[in-house]
Amino acid sequence: MERTLAIIKPDAVERGLAGKILDRIEDNRLKIVALKMLHLSKGEAEGFYKVHSERPFFSSLTKYMSTSPVIVAVLNGEDAIKKWRDLMGATNPKDAAAGTIRKEFAIDIEKNSVHGSDSHESASFEIQYFFSNIEIF
Ligand code: CMP
Repeated sequence: MERTLAIIKPDAVERGLAGKILDRIEDNRLKIVALKMLHLSKGEAEGFYKVHSERPFFSSLTKYMSTSPVIVAVLNGEDAIKKWRDLMGATNPKDAAAGTIRKEFAIDIEKNSVHGSDSHESASFEIQYFFSNIEIF
């Protein structure tokens, strides 16, 4: 069993897509073991995305991520990191496969509706960024 972090981003929460996205998670044998809604400050978004701090999109990304609430969740399951990334689809919805969340719901490469950890190391950092041990079941 493996854990990963999922974020339902502001564009998806604002458009009322959270329920549909959580359904896909549960329909694909990923168990939600922690869940909360929060409104990130710009500084909190910068801390979360610090690996991208040198990228040209960093300022715009962290501004967007702090515009309105997000939903963060810890998912548990076999091969959870890859499984959640496969369900999300490619970062740019233009490149995402048919049937993926980003293909169906994302607005553009930035407002791409969902986030998922890309490795064990990032999952460990990202889960701890939002949740303490007693919040994960
Ligand atoms: P995410 O999977 O959360 O990881 C980094 C985020 O930066 C990405 O999704 C997008 O929301 C955003 N982003 C904006 N522009 C780019 C880009 N050119 N390449 C990668 N990510 C981008």
